[in-house]
Amino acid sequence: MDASKKDRYFAQPFERVTPFSFNAEVAEVFDDMVTRSVPLYRENQQLTVDLLSRLLKKNDVVYDLGCSTGTVLYLLGQALKTLDLQLIGLDASAPMVEKARMKLKAFGLKNAEIEKADITQVPFLPCGAVVMNYTLQFLPVEARLPLLKKIYESLRPGGVLLLAEKIQTDAPGLQDLVTDIYYDFKGHNGYSELEISQKREALENVLIPLTPTQQTELLREAGFGPVEMLLRWGPFATFLAVK
Ligand SMILES: C[S@@+](CC[C@H](N)C(=O)[O-])C[C@H]1O[C@@H](n2cnc3c(N)ncnc32)[C@H](O)[C@@H]1O
Repeated sequence: MDASKKDRYFAQPFERVTPFSFNAEVAEVFDDMVTRSVPLYRENQQLTVDLLSRLLKKNDVVYDLGCSTGTVLYLLGQALKTLDLQLIGLDASAPMVEKARMKLKAFGLKNAEIEKADITQVPFLPCGAVVMNYTLQFLPVEARLPLLKKIYESLRPGGVLLLAEKIQTDAPGLQDLVTDIYYDFKGHNGYSELEISQKREALENVLIPLTPTQQTELLREAGFGPVEMLLRWGPFATFLAVK
């Protein structure tokens, strides 16, 4: 289902590393980039499908906010055909939207639509679930609570938000160790030291992680009841928040 080219985006030395953006070149290699950069990426997607297969109702609307190339929507559409879901992917990047539409068309998924939209600016339909994987981390910190509140308001009672994020450690003094094992993970997946260091520089002040405690507090402040961290590998975690 992933047809992207191999990610060599940061392989050559840049004269000046500019802030990371989801441009056409990144969209071209995104599936490979994210799979080699996010630990347990596939497992997280399967977790999403398995959880939502238990929690969704027939005809529910499901959003994927920051859907990138649309893989989660494709997996949900394939696995949960009998629920007749309305799948909606939103992404602010035109090249990502184009990739997602191509992917869903190629696989003949009819109950999914992809819109180019800034998720902080558009209203949401009443829905049964929202998936937001590795996207909230790119929003200014002050924009996160209003968005989480809007998601909460749009969910039906019992509806869920599945939120995957890069995180910082809660424990003082352990951040460097966790960062180091994460860079080992990227090295094991074929990224060179140059690629790792240029990407780290490009993401500075663009991707701002919270601690699990801060993230959980934000979800509670937005109105969510039970919040559980379902998955964690070093600096990445997935939270389930229930309305
Ligand atoms: C790391 S990618 C998300 C990956 C995807 N959810 C997945 O699991 O493969 C972040 C995505 O969020 C999108 N994005 C960032 N800010 C956004 C915003 N304000 N509104 C909509 N999309 C946004 C980017 O264009 C990008 O495609």
